[in-house]
Amino acid sequence: RRKKMVKICCIGAGYVGGPTMAVIALKCPSIEVVVVDISVPRITAWNSEQLPIYEPGLDEVVEQCRGKNLFFSTNVEKHVSEADIIFVSVNTPTKTLGLGAGKAADLTYWESAARMIADVSKSDKIVVEKSTVPVKTAEAIERILTHNSKGIKFQILSNPEFLAEGTAVWDLFNPDRVLIGGRETPDGQKAIQALKKVYANWVPEERILTTNLWSAELSKLAANALLAQRISSINAMSALCEATGADVSQVSHAVGKDSRIGPKFLNASVGFGGSCFQKDILNLVYICECNGLAEVADYWKQVIKVNDYQKNRFVNRIVSSMFNTVSGKKIGVLGFAFKKDTGDTRETPAIDVCKGLLGDMARLSIYDPQVTDDQIQKDLTMNKFDWDHPVHLQPMSPIDIKQVSVVWDAYEAAKDAHGLCILTEWDEFKILDYQRIFDNMQKPAFVFDGCNVVNVGELREIGFIVYSIGKPMDPWFKDMPAMA
Ligand code: UDX
Ligand code: UDX
Ligand code: ADP
Repeated sequence: RRKKMVKICCIGAGYVGGPTMAVIALKCPSIEVVVVDISVPRITAWNSEQLPIYEPGLDEVVEQCRGKNLFFSTNVEKHVSEADIIFVSVNTPTKTLGLGAGKAADLTYWESAARMIADVSKSDKIVVEKSTVPVKTAEAIERILTHNSKGIKFQILSNPEFLAEGTAVWDLFNPDRVLIGGRETPDGQKAIQALKKVYANWVPEERILTTNLWSAELSKLAANALLAQRISSINAMSALCEATGADVSQVSHAVGKDSRIGPKFLNASVGFGGSCFQKDILNLVYICECNGLAEVADYWKQVIKVNDYQKNRFVNRIVSSMFNTVSGKKIGVLGFAFKKDTGDTRETPAIDVCKGLLGDMARLSIYDPQVTDDQIQKDLTMNKFDWDHPVHLQPMSPIDIKQVSVVWDAYEAAKDAHGLCILTEWDEFKILDYQRIFDNMQKPAFVFDGCNVVNVGELREIGFIVYSIGKPMDPWFKDMPAMA
């Protein structure tokens, strides 16, 4: 008798669920994978030629399996009830209201997914936490499932995803590690083995780590916190480099040669962005506070404070160098996405920098190769959530959107501008014709490079006044109060 085909269902067809399930389907032809979502437009897009997210290589993977063993559907309940393994990959934003607002994770979507699983299940299930959740979430989920079930057994596993945007498919094909946490009971161990078997189709055995549930949940928050902390550490150094004449790229290189430190994730920038780092650290801070660990909470909070400091410092540098006012001056902005090779703008430092400049009445002309006009307008008019003072939200004066134009060409953004800021490290910004840009700008012409992509020497040769994060300063900036 042939063994029944394993069925996997993933709830949530977003940045994590979509690519992860596509790769599982590709690597495991004998498993049927259905990705379900309550959003009809999302599922429609996954079933079309124009996928809802942009990831290099994703189109090819989806094309190879869709309709064979990979399906996208809005029929959530049917597919959940038929599945053996259910991944939950719904969004977990930061709470904006009530207890823990500004820090705690909002588990509304998670809870409703768990209740639905309990309602529709007719056979034993393995439920896998895929979206990042606070430590001990598994316990809450377990309670919801067991208190509602009719004699059905549920095993909860934590299997956090470590993929980065822009390299999602590569990261899924070649993960540094796959982490599976579960209960230390015989049934828990059996569930771990069942999920391990799925990954073993393409991931070498020694890269599949198994731990208890809490270690797996915390490891995800810890990994993102440590990565963000490295960036805040090097960004803090960049301020000191500017003050002393050291060059942060040389410092990073020298420091990264220490094999105990390693060379990756040491690029100074105008600040980290993206949907994970700030959210996960806030969550970590909240969990520490709930456990009475005030010193530990403060330690991690500092990583976000330095990130905010870095963005403010950049804006102050621009304003102070341009005779302490940018009012009415055109400033070209190159790059808006939170990093290159994505159109994602969640928590991008560009939002804070642009708002800072608009606060000083600058006129902005923004160019990004992947971000739409609509998205930029939306990001700049939305109120920033104040994570430290969530209850006393100051109504922000609405930005006069006439001060912002979004253009489809870097040269257009720079034309007649007094200054040019680079806020995303897109490769194309390295090979622009800076002589042409200089010729069409107001003089003195300033470049403020927030990602260290330009060749500072060459630009100074052309005649620009250049500020590049953490690099030795132009004489122009001497005696300019930029640290305020
Ligand atoms: C350190 C630096 O390693 C060395 O490069 C520099 O030149 C001098 O300072 P040292 O002080 O001899 O060297 O010892 P090291 O092995 O770095 O340990 C320093 C302290 O950190 C010790 O107390 C050690 O127990 C502690 N440590 C180290 C940890 O607590 N955890 C670790 O993972 C590593
Ligand atoms: C991150 C983690 O890398 C990933 O493992 C996790 O699953 C989700 O969060 P992502 O947010 O997609 O992934 O992007 P990442 O490449 O980590 O970059 C985050 C931010 O840090 C970007 O704004 C980037 O520009 C910035 N960054 C990164 C730096 O400023 N300097 C660096 O050296 C590296
Ligand atoms: P991530 O970056 O973690 O993947 P996204 O926001 O991109 O997060 O995706 C989460 C997806 O989960 C969204 O498409 C959302 O519609 C979906 N979702 C949220 N709650 C439910 C639910 N109860 N049932 C099905 N899908 C859900």
